[in-house]
Amino acid sequence: MLNVAMIGAGGVARRHRAGWIPQADASVVGVADLMAERAAEAAAELGAEQATGDYMDVLRRDDVDAVDICTTERTHADIAVAAAEHGKHILVEKPIATTLEDADRMIAAADERGVMLMVGQTHRFYDYSIAAKSAIERGEIGTPVYLRYSSGGGFWNQDWTGNRISAGDTGGNVVTNGVHIADLCNWWMRARPVSIYGQALNQTSPHLEMNDYFMFTIKYDNGAIAVAELSRANMPRSNQFKSIILLGAEGQLSSGMEDESNWVDGDGGMEFVGPEFQHGFTRMIGEFVRRVDEGGQSPVSGEEGRLALAMCLGAEESIRTGEVFKF
Ligand SMILES: NC(=O)c1ccc[n+]([C@@H]2O[C@H](COP(=O)([O-])OP(=O)(O)OC[C@H]3O[C@@H](n4cnc5c(N)ncnc54)[C@H](O)[C@@H]3O)[C@@H](O)[C@H]2O)c1
Repeated sequence: MLNVAMIGAGGVARRHRAGWIPQADASVVGVADLMAERAAEAAAELGAEQATGDYMDVLRRDDVDAVDICTTERTHADIAVAAAEHGKHILVEKPIATTLEDADRMIAAADERGVMLMVGQTHRFYDYSIAAKSAIERGEIGTPVYLRYSSGGGFWNQDWTGNRISAGDTGGNVVTNGVHIADLCNWWMRARPVSIYGQALNQTSPHLEMNDYFMFTIKYDNGAIAVAELSRANMPRSNQFKSIILLGAEGQLSSGMEDESNWVDGDGGMEFVGPEFQHGFTRMIGEFVRRVDEGGQSPVSGEEGRLALAMCLGAEESIRTGEVFKF
């Protein structure tokens, strides 16, 4: 049985709790959050014996094997390094950190202490992304050459003043949201990114200190290209759209908002039936537990998380300078 402490009991932690509860081989035994009442509520929901306002309290416990870090982006590095120093395996929410120096500190600390560091790139664990990955691995579309990933809509509350709209806390919109898609692009395209070009605007939510819409174009070392566009804060809130086209040298996958257009029907191949956002958090947590138990490789390594971060920091710089950012 893996004993786990959750650190951070805010928005995303709710979804992690729902992912921990069904794990037969793991048990959450402590919860820490700066806001002690949040920790207490979460601990009660999980049946965890400890709730604390100081994450060091859970790290000092000998019976805690692993931590699940669900705190504000900027805080990931210090908490993860301390966790590694206390010999705990680490699942950390995306983005791995907000600077490359912090990501490096986390990777080095985990390596030094021989603990697993897994970055919670949730999009790798949804049904839709796994179905695409399997189709690619089976060679059903040949080598991926072009990806267009559009996801838009304004589901952030417009009066939100929490840390999620502070570029200082999150690294900026491209960093905190773009890492999902940058990592997915890398995973699907199976090539090394060589450059990124970003553009962004803030026309519909000008009171936010960060962009409400961005797009980036990634060029890969095999000549493939991925174009992604993402919004989270644009108005009107009802303006949701989503479309993915993945073109391979020998076939393609595509999805839209309508169920019937999700991937392609094909005699046991390329199967994907919506809705697309299924099982992500539970599967991600399950993989973490399984790999820690087996002593295997991290399902999403620190280096992979760092690469997605480097790309998104590059896109943020590209947005500022108007230049293509080369790695
Ligand atoms: N995978 C996904 O789909 C997904 C979705 C949303 C958020 N996230 C990520 O999850 C992380 C948290 O985001 P959120 O929306 O839950 O934020 P949030 O603000 O709702 O919650 C963060 C919590 O962390 C706590 N916290 C901050 N610093 C702390 C510290 N030093 N010690 C203990 N607790 C501390 C805060 O008190 C708060 O309760 C971010 O990295 C974010 O990018 C991922």
